[in-house]
Amino acid sequence: MIVCLCNALRERECREVAAQPGTRGPGCVYRQLGCRVRCGACVSTMCEIVEHARATREAVHQSRLVTGDA
Ligand code: FES
Repeated sequence: MIVCLCNALRERECREVAAQPGTRGPGCVYRQLGCRVRCGACVSTMCEIVEHARATREAVHQSRLVTGDA
């Protein structure tokens, strides 16, 4: 699925970048993929992708703390 029509960004590639520990926000995703926001129609979706990735990383971290794998 295309997330950003202006930059032809696919959901999969956005999720891969968002999952990287250094990704702090949606702007990082655009920069890592070599583009920038144009019309802005995709920003809310990109925010959701980044937040989901952050929550997933946090859940994995918490799980490792509980199991002692950290
Ligand atoms: S759809 Fe992403 S900047 Fe326009």
